Amino acid sequence: MASTSSYSYLHKSPQDILHDIDFQLTLEPALLTKLTKSFLEEIHVGLGRYGEDMAMVPSFVTGVPDGSEIGTFLALDLGGTNLRVCEVVLNGDKTFRLRQQKYKVSDQLKTGEASVLFDYLADSVDAFLTTHPPESPVDPTSNLTSDVLPLGLTFSFPVEQTALGSGTILTWTKGFSAKNAIGNDVVKLLQDAFDRKHMHVKCVALVNDTVGALLSRAYTSGGCILGAIFGTGTNGAYLEEVAKIPKLANNPAAANGGYMVVNTEWGAFNNKRTNLPTTPFDSALDRTSINPHFQAFEKFISGMYLGEITRHVLLSLIDAAPRSMLFGGKATKVVNEQWGLDTSVMSEVEEAWEAFVDEGYTVEPNHKMNGNGNETTNGTSNGTVPNEIGENPALWDGDDHDVLPRWDILSSPEGLAGLNSKIKGKLERVRKVLVKKLEYADGEIGLRDAAIVRWACHLVARRAALLSGVAVAAILLQTGRANFLQDTQEASTAAEETTTTSTVPNVNGLNGVSHDTNGRNAIAKPSPKEENIVVGVDGSLIQFYPHFERTMRESLRSIVGEDIERRVEIGLAKDGSGVGAALCALQALKQS
Ligand code: BGC
Repeated sequence: MASTSSYSYLHKSPQDILHDIDFQLTLEPALLTKLTKSFLEEIHVGLGRYGEDMAMVPSFVTGVPDGSEIGTFLALDLGGTNLRVCEVVLNGDKTFRLRQQKYKVSDQLKTGEASVLFDYLADSVDAFLTTHPPESPVDPTSNLTSDVLPLGLTFSFPVEQTALGSGTILTWTKGFSAKNAIGNDVVKLLQDAFDRKHMHVKCVALVNDTVGALLSRAYTSGGCILGAIFGTGTNGAYLEEVAKIPKLANNPAAANGGYMVVNTEWGAFNNKRTNLPTTPFDSALDRTSINPHFQAFEKFISGMYLGEITRHVLLSLIDAAPRSMLFGGKATKVVNEQWGLDTSVMSEVEEAWEAFVDEGYTVEPNHKMNGNGNETTNGTSNGTVPNEIGENPALWDGDDHDVLPRWDILSSPEGLAGLNSKIKGKLERVRKVLVKKLEYADGEIGLRDAAIVRWACHLVARRAALLSGVAVAAILLQTGRANFLQDTQEASTAAEETTTTSTVPNVNGLNGVSHDTNGRNAIAKPSPKEENIVVGVDGSLIQFYPHFERTMRESLRSIVGEDIERRVEIGLAKDGSGVGAALCALQALKQS
């Protein structure tokens, strides 16, 4: 779909236009704190009632593993970009082996009939079993007959889970819209497809990828409180006290007390957009998406959307009237088409820019390089001069803040000539990426274009990472592991005590759930790792986007303070979807 842009820039100077965009996409710490407060409110609402935007789905997983779990399971992972089938062998010593095969899911499958999609899933499992015949026996405690293979399904879409092995699809996200799926039990849809093909596979457990990330991180590191995905989509699952999930009401799971993993579905935070800092670029994206008004938070954060937001920013500058500000007014097919600009291109642009820093070119804050490249002390600016493109390369010292391009300098031959050669090198690198990825002819893109695109990518990604910090901070607050920095500062002594003595529900291993004398799950002792607050993450943004984690941490610091931020140990939940599904399948078999 070709896009039109209708941003009114008349009567503004180019520099003011850049300023305006910069202002709209920049988030102040006070806003991050405000958003975290409303995030917490939505958490409470979602824990109290079914049918809320932020679904806060009880997963029926009542503990996290401790690494001693054993068994061999099939896992099927339908998440976003790929479909994966794996065989997971849990060795019981915090290690696992995994054999996997990825399969493509075409747009036709994503948007066609659900039965066709689920038949494809079954076919993929069948193909996998043909090429990877099962190696080891399944879990010895399993009640399944030996020729039936237990499978855990990682289904990374909003599902109202009714038990460990069943759940109703609430909505599609991430470009899926298969018909006749919503309202149906996803496990049944899959099992019916297996049965249609007379396959000896039984889907015994259903798990969200965030729950998988939490469980797999706990399995490999002995504890974890939050599993979060920052990839094509975004979401988080955490360990909540059952007593704080009033909507479980008379469900037998409520009577057992203890803890349960809750899948927040935080991508739907503030769907009403009352607090999110929505810009016209976000609105343009939302309006033309297949799920307008849904997944508002996700649309600010995740990899599926960042490229598209940036594309809207760029289009607005290409179309700026009365004079184009970008690419001489020319839009290639990539720039012109919806979803044409992939988030990975933004990542490449930022990497191209960063390359110089990686090569050892850094400038201390408070220092700048003069035109000859000699370092001088900047006695007056104290690092507070707005960072702009000019002959002062300290303004681009590898720090992520403030990269607002200076239109006058970049628009005149003298200005360009005055740029430090390192800056020119960085811009040239970015320019080359753009020529290749946006499909322009070499002469159609200049250094000014490169600076503007790099700035736009940076603003959009930085905003995403800061907002990701809001979600993580909210979980730390919800689980009593943090206080708002504001409050800590106001009542430091009392608040500090609360922070350091909060109880940690680490435990209740799937293998060794600790019980009190009545057989209920007991509140666990704080683990030795309590000093660290372990968060398991997965997804392309957090893994590959330059400085995503660093910026997310900056956000955490501004919301809950540095002491807490430093204790947050963010680690990759390697193969979380596969291992998590296997761990859930194990729990399901033990319960059956
Ligand atoms: C889905 C979540 C999922 C997340 C990350 C979101 O679009 O609603 O269920 O966990 O993407 O994959």
